[in-house]
Amino acid sequence: MKLLKVENVVKKFGGLAALQGVSLEIDKGEFVAIVGPNGSGKTTLLNVINGVYKPDSGRVLFEGRDITKLPAYARAKMGISRAFQVPRPFPDMTVLDNVVVGALFNGGLDLQRAKEVAREALEYVGLGRKADELAGRLTFNELRLLELARALAGRPKLLLLDEVMAGLNPGEIDNMTKLIRRVVEEKDIAALSLVEHRMKAVVQLAHRVVVMHQGKVIAEGPPDVALNDPMVVEIYLGKPWR
Ligand SMILES: Nc1ncnc2c1ncn2[C@@H]1O[C@H](COP(=O)(O)OP(=O)(O)OP(=O)(O)O)[C@@H](O)[C@H]1O
Ligand SMILES: [Mg+2]
Repeated sequence: MKLLKVENVVKKFGGLAALQGVSLEIDKGEFVAIVGPNGSGKTTLLNVINGVYKPDSGRVLFEGRDITKLPAYARAKMGISRAFQVPRPFPDMTVLDNVVVGALFNGGLDLQRAKEVAREALEYVGLGRKADELAGRLTFNELRLLELARALAGRPKLLLLDEVMAGLNPGEIDNMTKLIRRVVEEKDIAALSLVEHRMKAVVQLAHRVVVMHQGKVIAEGPPDVALNDPMVVEIYLGKPWR
């Protein structure tokens, strides 16, 4: 059984169809990168998967169960965690408490256990020594790491990462790439990432690349195939990858 199945999803905002019949499957243990130009629908697709939006038509199945109508917290409880493109921590709460919120959102933990899980997640991303600082005092790179820790603290089966490298410098991107690879290897999850414009990281991390354009999937396959597809090169990359 597929971990995730997105079937022919349409999502409209007024007259604009942000998703025009998108289908996608992810196996357990598979790392899929979603790439494509700005506004192609990548974030909207993640929002439909984790329940921020309900699609106008189409279905989302998780572990064989139709979750299309379930709210975000119910999906989180089932094992879908999300790191957002724009980190919005609670700035007046400590770093640890921000992650505790993530651990509690997915349910099933008492406060004591949630704190342990949160501390573990902070150590894992390298933010352990910042646990008691206010989140509002973190650097941008640290906010990205906090966002990842918050998602991991939900103990996800499916981890959705929305451009978690955007705004980072090359050294920080390298660190984040290694971290995500460790997560994928060590934790029992399938990750789904958007790493637009950073094709090097996509090639290093993904088993499969899904290319979106104007609300549709225009190409799909192993990185070296999808990123050398003539239409993908023309619409998105400008020149073949490598
Ligand atoms: N809440 C919303 N209300 C109205 N339009 C929206 C909303 N969210 C997204 N859109 C529109 O839907 C389209 C797809 O947006 P989306 O954010 O999914 O793109 P994206 O691929 O994530 O882009 P980026 O790479 O810039 O993050 C865009 O035209 C965007 O303006
Ligand atoms: Mg986006």
